[in-house]
Amino acid sequence: MNVLTVGGGGREHAIVEAVRESGGTVFSVMRNRNPGIARASKDVLLADETNVERVVAWAQEVGAALAVVGPEAPLGHGLVDQLESAGVPTVGPSRRAAQIELSKEFARDLMRRHEIPGLVEYHPFDDLDEARGFLRNHVGPFVVKPIGLTGGKGVRVMGDHFQTREGGLRYVEEVLEKRIGSQARVLVERKEEGEEFSLQAFTDGEHLAPMPAVQDYKRAQEGDRGPNTGGMGSVSVADGLLPFLPRDDYEAAVEILRRTVRALRSDGTPFRGVLYGGFILTAEGPKVLEFNARFGDPEAMNVLPVLREDFLEVCESIVEGTLSERLLFAPKATVCKYVVPRGYGRKSEAGRPLTVDEDAIRRAGAVLYYASVDEKDGAILTTSSRSLAVVGVADSLPEAERQAETALGHIGGEHVARHDIGKAETIEAKVRKMKQMRVV
Ligand code: GLY
Repeated sequence: MNVLTVGGGGREHAIVEAVRESGGTVFSVMRNRNPGIARASKDVLLADETNVERVVAWAQEVGAALAVVGPEAPLGHGLVDQLESAGVPTVGPSRRAAQIELSKEFARDLMRRHEIPGLVEYHPFDDLDEARGFLRNHVGPFVVKPIGLTGGKGVRVMGDHFQTREGGLRYVEEVLEKRIGSQARVLVERKEEGEEFSLQAFTDGEHLAPMPAVQDYKRAQEGDRGPNTGGMGSVSVADGLLPFLPRDDYEAAVEILRRTVRALRSDGTPFRGVLYGGFILTAEGPKVLEFNARFGDPEAMNVLPVLREDFLEVCESIVEGTLSERLLFAPKATVCKYVVPRGYGRKSEAGRPLTVDEDAIRRAGAVLYYASVDEKDGAILTTSSRSLAVVGVADSLPEAERQAETALGHIGGEHVARHDIGKAETIEAKVRKMKQMRVV
C-alpha cells in the first residue's frame, strides 16, 4: 500500500518506521530533508507541509491509498479535509476537530460545556485592562497561555517564567500586542501543582484505544531548568503507567479523553486520529493542561516502538471507524533522549556537523530517529530545531536509560542532550514530590 506521510521530525521518522514495518511503501512530504525518513521513502517531496494544494496533488500523483499527518500546522490549513475530498483516507482530524489543539479556548469551552472532568479554572482576555482588573482580585499563582499555536513554547507559568503579578501582566501585554499564537487573545489560568504526563490515544471518532502514559521533559536544561522547548526527551514504563502515576489516575485520564471524543462527536466534529492529553497529576487527580490533535514529539518515539499491532491495520481501522479499543503494547520501558544544537531554546547554533555511528547505536540496543537536520554532501548538519533522538527500549527503566546513554556516546559533534532524563534520582524525586502532595 502506498502511504503518504507528512512531516520531517523525530515523531514522523517513528511513524514512517511503523508504516514500513507493516509493509507500507512510504511517500513522504517534509520541509527539511530528514535522512532517516528519506532513506525509508520510495520518494520524497521537499515542500512546505502546509501547502495543501501541493501536498494533495502529490498524494494523487503517487497513488497514496492512505495518509498519516504528523505535525499540527497542516491540520490548521485543512490538509486532512482536502486529502479526504481528493479520495485519500487520512489519519488525522479535520480542521474543525483539530481546534481542540489549535485554540486553547475552544478546548476549555468544550470541556466546560460538556462537563468533562479535569477542567482548570480559566479566563480569556483580549483587553489588557480587563486582565489587569481580574488579576488585581485574583489570589494565587497563575499561568498565561496564548490561545493559538506556539510550538510548545508560549505558555508562561508564575514561579517558573515570571515571579509577580506584574511580570505575568507584562507577558499578557506582549501576547496581545505581538499576537503571539497568531491571535490577540490570551487565557489566564489557575496554576496547578503536580507532575505532568502525556496520554495519547488512537480514536476513530467513536472508539478510543489508549497508549502507555509518557512523561516528557520540556525544559532545556538538566534539573528542569531553562526555557521550555518542544521536549528534550521522554520516558515510559513497562506497565504503561508511570512511577508517580497510579492505575486509578491513568484510568481517570483515559476517561477524560473518552468524554472529549464523545463531546466532539456530539458537537458534529468527530475527531479521527491521535488525541493527545497533556495532563498534570494533582492532589485531586489528573487535570488537563492542553490537548493536541496528533502524536506528541517525542512521545511518539516512546509508544510506536512498543506497539505490538500492525500499524497500518490500526490506521485503516481508524479511517473505517472500526478501531479496537484494546491495542497491545509490549511490556517494555522506553527512554528517549533528544540531541539538540547548542543554544537550543534560546539561540540555536545551526549548521554544525554531527557524526552518527548508526551501527554502534543499533548494537547498543537503542533506536535512532532523525529529526530536524539537513543532509548536505553526505554531512549531517544541525538546524535551529531538535536534531535527532535515541530511544532505549528494555525490560526496565534503568536498562532503557543506559541504552539511551550508550547510544548518545556514538553521536559526535557539537550538541547538547539532557543526561538526567530517565535517571533513577530524577524519577525518585518525582515520586517523592507526588507522595508528599497527596499526603498533605
Ligand atoms: N511533547 C509535547 C508535544 O508534542 O506537544
